[in-house]
Amino acid sequence: MKISDAVKLRSSVRSFQSKPISNSLIKDLLLKASRSPSGGNLQPWKIFVINEKSMDDFLIFQQKWTEQENPAYDIYPSKLKEPYRTSRYELGEEMYKILGIGRDDKSGRLNQVMKNFEFFGAPAALFCFVDRQMGPPQWSDLGMFLQTFMLLAKEVGLDTCAQEAWSIKHDSVSEFMRADPDEILFCGMCIGYSNDSDPINSLKSSRRPIEEWAKFI
Ligand SMILES: Cc1cc2nc3c(=O)[nH]c(=O)nc-3n(C[C@H](O)[C@H](O)[C@H](O)COP(=O)(O)O)c2cc1C
Repeated sequence: MKISDAVKLRSSVRSFQSKPISNSLIKDLLLKASRSPSGGNLQPWKIFVINEKSMDDFLIFQQKWTEQENPAYDIYPSKLKEPYRTSRYELGEEMYKILGIGRDDKSGRLNQVMKNFEFFGAPAALFCFVDRQMGPPQWSDLGMFLQTFMLLAKEVGLDTCAQEAWSIKHDSVSEFMRADPDEILFCGMCIGYSNDSDPINSLKSSRRPIEEWAKFI
């Protein structure tokens, strides 16, 4: 697969088949993704994979978790500026339109959000942590690693969805993974085969025109 095809074909998949994936395949993708660049070659990513029994155990554990959780970080700035606010709004509107969930259907919208915490049915997932000592440059390295992983997954017919949603369940995820207290959760990521018959996966998110975000000086 050409890189440009993988980039074009990758999208966030929010409904998966139950078809299993082997840990050896995930390990291979992780090893390949570790060729991603990072400032000073720090390779600041710390990955926990759950699959098969550990996925089942985690889902049971996290549904039973009753403690008050401390979110890892604010997912968005509290007063999101334009044009970012509109982009976020439009994504939500496009998604709920495909699902036939109306603007006032708060419980319908919440139900969809809660599917994040079942990995949208994916059989496997990873969690990406980073040492708390690290700052914005190293967090951006995580993004490079994760995108490389997502493209490599696409090459072998797998789909993914990065999930910041898990940041609100930082404590339970950290406890289950036995993450070092010095490590903070950035995001989760569903890994699996797309359920193409689910309309949610027909969502093609828009992009703002290049004139708005690139200037040739
Ligand atoms: C770091 C990161 C975290 C994300 N978190 C979530 C999430 O929690 N739940 C979700 O449904 N989508 C999540 N997404 C997917 C974005 O909504 C998606 O990437 C964006 O709308 C662009 O669509 P595309 O990935 O299909 O191109 C996340 C994406 C990234 C890169």
